[in-house]
Amino acid sequence: MSRIFSGIQPSGELHIGNYLGAVKNWVTMQHQYNAYYCIVNYHAITVAYAPQDLLARTHEMAVGLLAAGIDENAATLFVQSQVPEHTELAWIFNTLTPLGELERQAQFKEKSGRQEQIMAGLLNYPVLQAADILLYRADLVPVGEDQIQHLELSRVVARNWNARFSPDQPLFPEPQPKLTQTRRIVGLDGQSKMSKSIGNTIGILESPEAIWDKLRPAVTDPARQKKTDAGDPDKCPVVYPLHKAFSPAATVSEVETHCRGATWGCIECKKSLHANVVAELAPIREKAAQLTAHPGRVTELLDSGADKARTIARETMRQVKDLMGLPAAVAP
Ligand code: AMP
Ligand code: TRP
Repeated sequence: MSRIFSGIQPSGELHIGNYLGAVKNWVTMQHQYNAYYCIVNYHAITVAYAPQDLLARTHEMAVGLLAAGIDENAATLFVQSQVPEHTELAWIFNTLTPLGELERQAQFKEKSGRQEQIMAGLLNYPVLQAADILLYRADLVPVGEDQIQHLELSRVVARNWNARFSPDQPLFPEPQPKLTQTRRIVGLDGQSKMSKSIGNTIGILESPEAIWDKLRPAVTDPARQKKTDAGDPDKCPVVYPLHKAFSPAATVSEVETHCRGATWGCIECKKSLHANVVAELAPIREKAAQLTAHPGRVTELLDSGADKARTIARETMRQVKDLMGLPAAVAP
């Protein structure tokens, strides 16, 4: 069975952008592939953060993922810093990554613009991402659209390493992204991608009341000033795409008719969406509550995930070092 890998930052809250853009695929694909899913805490420290919160956010992310359907018996779920081979391979890859490729990454340009001082770790972020994936020699990477450019870089790194150290029999595959139908979810502001750092998210564990408080003022077709103005669902940046993701097909076509015919106001449309979002998220919230009541169980599960991941990681590093003329680590 071929291997797949994906990662998510420990932002604490898993939001519906993560869920629809990536995690839904993680859940489906864990039954079709040998799946490794990683909470990437070393990526999270490339921007300023509060050390006293990081552990809790990491734990909450694990709870969110398990509640959303990651099954520890089907997939290996673990925390990046518990498998030191990730940073070890990243260093090696740094020696084979052209600086220009890193400087032109859209995420680096965007994030570095927000920093007073730009640290090398932010620039090298995608090199660590390449190491994450290639350590498991994964072919496919279920992610949202924003990660396509990072995966291109992972392929460059794999190609460069193979060409230099194993030209006859490439050690690393060139990993491809696997996107969902909803590869980019726009945030509640109707402008940017849904993102915790922008604060335009709906968390998958939020209460029905909290979700309604966020949906009610969400941006819709700007041409619809009042209920009697006809709308165009395709110009509705948030509510209509979320209907397509959460509501049955019959509801989606009902929404289209009522919007174009001005027979529903945006509030009615949002109420219908709210009911469908809440229905899909209810079992996830319930599962999360059970997991939160047993924090020791989640920690154990992550420790055993790291153990399993390390077996593969060690073997890859043994081969990498062997081919590069580097003595291997002494067995523990
Ligand atoms: P992050 O929270 O940045 O670590 O992202 C985790 C996963 O969710 C990645 O695969 C992202 O591509 C995906 N993702 C994050 N935000 C969105 C969004 N607004 N729409 C679709 N996918 C997203
Ligand atoms: N950069 C990814 C994001 O922000 C997270 C990530 C780190 C990742 N390593 C990865 C995703 C490896 C896929 C594979 O979402």
